[in-house]
Amino acid sequence: MKGRTDIVLGVQWGDEGKGRVVDVLASEAGAVVRYQGGANAGHTVVVENEKYVFHLLPSGILYPEKLCVIGNGVVLDPEALFEELDGLAARGKKLARLIVSHAAHIVMPYHKMIDRLAEGARSDAARIGTTGRGIGPCYADKYERIGIRAEDLVNPDVLRDKLSRTLKIKNDILTKIYGAEALDFDELFAQSLKWGERLAPLLGDAFLEIDGAIRDGRNVLFEGAQATLLDIDHGTYPFVTSSSPCAGGACTGAGIGPSRIDRVIGVTKAYCTRVGEGPFPTEEHGELGEELRRKGGEFGATTGRPRRCGWCDLVAVDYAVKVNGLDGIALTKLDVLDDFDEIKVCVAYETGGAVRNHFPSSCVELAGAKPVYKSLPGWKCNISKCRSFEELPPAARDYVNFIEEYTGIPVLLIGVGVGREDTIRRGL
Ligand code: IMP
Repeated sequence: MKGRTDIVLGVQWGDEGKGRVVDVLASEAGAVVRYQGGANAGHTVVVENEKYVFHLLPSGILYPEKLCVIGNGVVLDPEALFEELDGLAARGKKLARLIVSHAAHIVMPYHKMIDRLAEGARSDAARIGTTGRGIGPCYADKYERIGIRAEDLVNPDVLRDKLSRTLKIKNDILTKIYGAEALDFDELFAQSLKWGERLAPLLGDAFLEIDGAIRDGRNVLFEGAQATLLDIDHGTYPFVTSSSPCAGGACTGAGIGPSRIDRVIGVTKAYCTRVGEGPFPTEEHGELGEELRRKGGEFGATTGRPRRCGWCDLVAVDYAVKVNGLDGIALTKLDVLDDFDEIKVCVAYETGGAVRNHFPSSCVELAGAKPVYKSLPGWKCNISKCRSFEELPPAARDYVNFIEEYTGIPVLLIGVGVGREDTIRRGL
């Protein structure tokens, strides 16, 4: 018997409500796996009017009988992880069994320092607007092959050797390039061993656990962080994160072959947001953007930054369908559009005098793209109590139908509020 394996990933620039979708689906899963990113993520889950924001923990962590896995593709900030675990313990929560891959790379203090210093040194045009969580510098070390992995924290001899070599390079960068203070080796070494002590019982062969769960016939959910348009390869480079949130990233970041994935589900908001810099063709700068931000509560779950807001961009959604091989869409926050007279949706771009309906691979070209909109009537009523597609007002159904027609894939779940129960399920 084989369980069902689903990848749940973001379609836009993050903050689509992936945590909420994973939380709903986790009730039927045996395991939930994070495969990339780190504490830059902020996945919000609301259960019985209590709000939880997960940065590193998989969004299935509130189900005590489940397995939660932090895969090799994640960059792990031990302090952020322990803070999350302690916060949940203080709230008296029983948690899922947690396994951290030996091979996950550790976000060290110098990564966070360099992330912030590098960002501060960039010109206005080059600024990425990172979360400052050390993500880019940690992944850079991984590929430079000078990173510290979770397994190293429980092996003092290996750690001493690796850390002394790497810290030399980092201290040169800190002092000679940025004029900052050097970090003390002994202090950092002692601190790292302490992290290792606490991490030791959680470490395991994450891929084997996932394989076991699938073989046991349990459903496994792979929870993407960030999103398609922030993907290091497929996103709006260089205004991207440093990992692979796209479907392929789940395979490398968890250690599972593509043939074992059953479905790929793309989570998209009924409108669109972005935090940080970079092109965003449907961004609304005026009152309308403000209204979306207010009604949608669009402030970063990790940094508190106000999110840039605009209409849903179906050209971008269609791009995500293609690069991820999406089987279905989970459409979130449809209720945020309840009061609008008119709902606009981008169906093409105008660039250099020509109209095109595919997403340009060049970020420069995207920056010059003007959205071509289709206007649909609003439904002007509260949909938060609807629990089936048929209960939605006709205009809301038309909006969903339009998205399905444009993308050629079904909308399998619709979010109409923040709670677990505020969900219309249509085959997911
Ligand atoms: P980094 O991942 O901190 O390096 O940030 C790179 C870019 O990704 C910035 O524009 C961030 O605002 C954005 N970003 C990173 N994580 C998230 C997220 O979880 N949601 C939305 N945007 C994110």
